Amino acid sequence: MTAAQMIATPDEAARKAKENTLLSPRFYTTDFAAMDRIDVSPIRAEWDTMMAEYEGDNNHDHFQRNEQFAKEVAEVFSQVSPELRKEFLEFLITSVTSEFSGCILYNEIQKNVTNPDIKALMRFMARDESRHAGFINSSLKDFGLGLDLGGLKRTKAYTYFKPKYIFYATYLSEKIGYARYITIFRQLEANPDKRFHPIFRWFERWCNDEFRHGESFALIMRTQPHLLRGANVLWIRFFLLAVYATMYVRDHTRPMLHEAMGLDSTEYDYKVFAITSEISKQVFPVSLDIDHPAFRAGMERLFQVQTRIDAAKARGGLVGKLQQAGWALAGAATFARLYLLPVKKHELPAQVRVAPAW
Ligand SMILES: [Fe+2]
Ligand SMILES: [Fe+2]
Repeated sequence: MTAAQMIATPDEAARKAKENTLLSPRFYTTDFAAMDRIDVSPIRAEWDTMMAEYEGDNNHDHFQRNEQFAKEVAEVFSQVSPELRKEFLEFLITSVTSEFSGCILYNEIQKNVTNPDIKALMRFMARDESRHAGFINSSLKDFGLGLDLGGLKRTKAYTYFKPKYIFYATYLSEKIGYARYITIFRQLEANPDKRFHPIFRWFERWCNDEFRHGESFALIMRTQPHLLRGANVLWIRFFLLAVYATMYVRDHTRPMLHEAMGLDSTEYDYKVFAITSEISKQVFPVSLDIDHPAFRAGMERLFQVQTRIDAAKARGGLVGKLQQAGWALAGAATFARLYLLPVKKHELPAQVRVAPAW
């Protein structure tokens, strides 16, 4: 999607949601038999506490819109510039797609396992994600851009991931989701005049769901300690970098969204990385050195490369294709250099769980 293209119809919104680019949220499927074999007995006490929290369902009445919501959409959001409106709607479409991606994955696992611990967990997480997706979708419907989630489920391509990749990737996306939502919430809590859409008011209680989902994957990974050492640490590094780089590039293509909230995209992203790195020490024995000048330069280079790729795509033709391939190689080389930077190492704590203290 180039800057000039506007999402104006439900078909365009659906196309955007169905995109399978490096940067777009994907739908996943996995090895259900392996999921069935997970044994949570080594962390039973922490597991049961977590399950009691899901059972308590403190957000059961949270995802409902009120009169105030409609009033703010009509009075505040209607005032924003067309450019900001476009970035915000794209943000909603990516968000609803990634919430729904979690919903589908958790629901598929739930249906295909008999292990009572995993089945119960997946049912609770699918419940939460379905509320999240539905809540965002109702904001898209305000603009006639609601997604047909059932249709998306049937027609979007699925990516198969081994369980361990699901654990690394989903753990990180839940925790980074928490860090993103809480950072936005705190910023707008301190600067209410910058809250241009009411949905941001819902982010605080919302992100506690994401935090808890991340905790669930942290506990699952701690039942399989081999996933957190040896050659698997190379995979952890890969997923950390892939998740951070995707977020950096995607956020920098939407500068207006952050600016409207009084945030600078780079500062916002590094704040989110810092929170995520701090939390992920609960389970990952390494974290990326996000303050290293070469790390920061590499992330910026990835964004520049993506801008060139988009320009080459827009140009089209043979020259456009060649340019696109050239920049894709440059992107891969930058990613490889970032991957080889030294990382920080940590001991894993005895207690797995951490509190959402941000
Ligand atoms: Fe969610
Ligand atoms: Fe989640």
